[in-house]
Amino acid sequence: MATKLWPAAPMKRREMHNHHMDSTIWNDFAFRDDDVIIATYGKSGTTWMQQIVGQLIFAGDPDVTVAELSPWLDLRVPPKEVKLPAVEAQTHRRFLKTHLPVDALVVDHIARYIYVARDGRDVIWSMHNHHANANQAWYAAINDSPGRVGPPIPPADPDLRRYFRTWLDEDGAPFWPFWDHVRSWWAIKELPNVLLVHYEDLKRDLPGEMRRIADFLGIQVDPARFPAMVEHCGFAWMKANAGKAAPLGGVFWDGGAETFINKGINGRWRDTLTLRDVTDYETRSVAELGPVCARWLAGGSRAV
Ligand code: A3P
Repeated sequence: MATKLWPAAPMKRREMHNHHMDSTIWNDFAFRDDDVIIATYGKSGTTWMQQIVGQLIFAGDPDVTVAELSPWLDLRVPPKEVKLPAVEAQTHRRFLKTHLPVDALVVDHIARYIYVARDGRDVIWSMHNHHANANQAWYAAINDSPGRVGPPIPPADPDLRRYFRTWLDEDGAPFWPFWDHVRSWWAIKELPNVLLVHYEDLKRDLPGEMRRIADFLGIQVDPARFPAMVEHCGFAWMKANAGKAAPLGGVFWDGGAETFINKGINGRWRDTLTLRDVTDYETRSVAELGPVCARWLAGGSRAV
C-alpha cells in the first residue's frame, strides 16, 4: 500500500512587526504534537473558536476561561520573555491564538492549525466596535509599550463608512493587510494539519461545525456532554459569560467584556455602504483571491 506523504509545511519568509505584533516569538516556541493554533485576521470569530476548542478539550466545563488559557502569542504585550515560559508551563492541551498570515508564522507539521475567516465587511463592522470602544489602557499597551515598530494606532474614525473605505483603500489600515492574509491560508488549506472554518458556517450549523473540528483535533466527544458544549459556545451564553472569553476579561474596552462579545451577526454593513463601496469591495476580493476563495469568504462553504 502506498504511504501517504505529508506535503512540506510552508516556510516562514518574513517577520511582521507593528503596533500589535511581534512575529518572532514563534521562532522560539517549542511545539508539542497536540498543539492547536487558532488563526484569523482578527474580528472573525477568534474568541468563538477559542471557546469551541476550549469546550472540546475540557469536555464542556463551564468554568474554562479561554481568555487566560489561550493567549495571543504574537501580540507584543506582555513580551515573549513573559509569554513563552507561561505557555511552556501549561500542562493541558494547548490552544494558542495568532493573527499572522502563513508566511510570517511558523507552520510546524506536528501542530494543528484552524483558520477562521469572515467577510471583510463584517470584520470591519466588528473592528470598529473594538477600536472605537477601546480605552486608554488599550492605547497605552499598544502604542506606548517598548518594542513598537511603525506608527502608533490612531483613534478610530467615528464615521463607519469612512473607516471601512480607509481599510479597503489602504489595504488593512490602520491594522494589517487583509487580502494577503486570507490568500496565504487559503493556499495551504489542503495540508492535513490545516482546517479552514467560516464564521457564517459556525452561525449556520454550530453543532455540525463543532463535530468537524473535534474530528480534526482527534477529540472523542462524550455525547452526554455535547449539548452543554454547544450551549457554552452559543452567542447568548458567551455574551452572558463574556469575561471568561474576552481578552484580559475585557479590561481594554469601555463597557468591558460585553462590548467585545458584541452583536454576533453579519451583514450590518448593508445599511451603510453604498453600491459603489460594495462593488469596489467585491471586485477587489475577486481580483485578490480568485472567484472561488472570494465566494467562500463572502458566504462560507455553501457559497462555493
Ligand atoms: P461582532 O463585533 O460583529 O459582534 P474576534 O474574537 O475575532 O475578535 O471576533 C469578535 C467577533 O466574534 C464579534 O463580532 C463577536 O460578537 C463575535 N462572536 C464571539 N462569540 C460569538 C458567538 N458565540 N457567536 C457569534 N459571534 C460571536
